[in-house]
Amino acid sequence: MRFSTISLAAAISALFIAGVADAQAAPACDTTKCVFPACVCPSVNPPKGMDPKTVPQFFTLTYDDAVQAPTVPVAASLMTPHRNPNNCPIKATWFAQTLYSDYALIQQWYAAGNEIADHTMNHIGTPPIEEVTGNRKAINAFSGIPYAKMTGFRAPFLNYSKSTFDVLAQEKIQYDSSTTATATDAYWPYTLDYGVANDCWTGICTQGVAQPGMWEIPMHAIIDPQGNAYSMDVQLSGSASVVSQWLKDNFNRHYQGTRQPFGIFLHPVHVGNATSLYNEFFAWAGAQKDVWFVTNQQLLEWMKNPVPASELANQPYMKCQQPAVGKEICNGLDDSKAGSIDKDTLQMCNFATGSWSTCYGCPTENPSVTNPVPARAVAAGQTGYRTPVPTTCAMEWWDPVGAQCLCNSSNCTFNDIATQTPTATTPLPTSTGSPNGNKGNSAAGQVMTGSVVTFGLAAAIAAGLAQLL
Ligand SMILES: *[C@@H]1O[C@H](CO)[C@@H](O)[C@H](O)[C@H]1NC(C)=O
Ligand SMILES: *[C@@H]1O[C@H](CO)[C@@H](O)[C@H](O)[C@H]1NC(C)=O
Ligand SMILES: *[C@@H]1O[C@H](CO)[C@@H](O)[C@H](O)[C@H]1NC(C)=O
Ligand SMILES: *[C@@H]1O[C@H](CO)[C@@H](O)[C@H](O)[C@H]1NC(C)=O
Ligand SMILES: [Zn+2]
Repeated sequence: MRFSTISLAAAISALFIAGVADAQAAPACDTTKCVFPACVCPSVNPPKGMDPKTVPQFFTLTYDDAVQAPTVPVAASLMTPHRNPNNCPIKATWFAQTLYSDYALIQQWYAAGNEIADHTMNHIGTPPIEEVTGNRKAINAFSGIPYAKMTGFRAPFLNYSKSTFDVLAQEKIQYDSSTTATATDAYWPYTLDYGVANDCWTGICTQGVAQPGMWEIPMHAIIDPQGNAYSMDVQLSGSASVVSQWLKDNFNRHYQGTRQPFGIFLHPVHVGNATSLYNEFFAWAGAQKDVWFVTNQQLLEWMKNPVPASELANQPYMKCQQPAVGKEICNGLDDSKAGSIDKDTLQMCNFATGSWSTCYGCPTENPSVTNPVPARAVAAGQTGYRTPVPTTCAMEWWDPVGAQCLCNSSNCTFNDIATQTPTATTPLPTSTGSPNGNKGNSAAGQVMTGSVVTFGLAAAIAAGLAQLL
């Protein structure tokens, strides 16, 4: 049984792995057959034999669970004060569940240049495939995010099995980030051609996981001086001054060592009074040379084509450019810089299980695993129909009310390179994707004030959710 020493509550908050030694060695990766960049062996060293002193120190900030009015401002409050060396706002990855999420807030998080990844619809450990596929289908339909841009997965409760990786492969998910790296297995991201090389104590390393080309981005734990490792929400495990020292010591271990990406993995609901702890730490880390905050997707862009830190600012995936739409449309952005996002165009969808908003038409019932994309309440051809984003237009330029693409030039017309889910039973609205991996917009964490607002989208918007670039 996995997590035999971990209570459910602990798994939700601080994952505590007391003195765990790797019970089984990592599977052997054949470096003669594992050829970069299609295949990357687990290694504590940077790819392609690069000198650690020349590579960027990546810093991944991730959030988990519902994207909703109370959690988004918490997430944003840890981002708005910080900039990357190229002066772009920092970006983060959100492993989003749809349960309790507001689809319009998911869209806004993404439109600001951040990443949305799959965390199942209902937060289910070792999930059945419908939980994984339904999450992407519902977010594609009601948040407008193309499948090609939802490439990652994290298992709820970090509870996964070999079958989870089979599900991810079936859904063509490009990376998993559910495993924990401690001192002995502090690997850079690697591909799963030769199996999982982290969390070997659970037996996963000997179970024959083999998913060629699928990436694993280990969650590097914060290790305290006693050797205890904390995967998530480390602020819950000690006083502010003690945790602050742990963070700096662990960061230094990466930065002065072989520069494995350093990560902070949070549930916004548990951040509580630790905002200043993290903001001070992020400012301290960010002030050091060659430290870059990135989404997991940006990290993998670099892994596939690594460049010295001195060249990172020029990489397309690190730039921040916001689409100049020129007119206020329902696209998750404050197009007219009026201080609000999609204020008069969002539709509020009310269900017994909760309310949320969308640009793309309320469904007749709340999305569920059995029906992730229910029929729209207003059907095509009827007055008030919201036209889904077509494959020929990027979400940011698509006006679902006027059914118009506001940018047809080759500079901003994207095609969907995503593979739609093979298990689809409901016809899905078409979606868009950028062929060059650069979504072309920015604003990252350039969001919201830090105040936590009461639940409800109207309140979130009133609280100024919209302070995007
Ligand atoms: C992991 O998830 C499975 C399937 O939902 C569940 O049966 C099992 O109890 C979970 N394990 C833990 C430790 O939560
Ligand atoms: C938050 O509150 C707890 C409990 O009062 C305290 O131990 C901790 O140091 C506080 N953290 C910060 C960052 O202020
Ligand atoms: C894009 O193309 C459509 C159809 O050809 C046209 O109606 C629309 O005005 C164009 N939009 C722009 C911004 O050029
Ligand atoms: C793309 O954008 C650049 C810079 O704004 C411009 O010079 C170029 O003409 C554009 N190309 C097209 C096809 O619109
Ligand atoms: Zn979760």
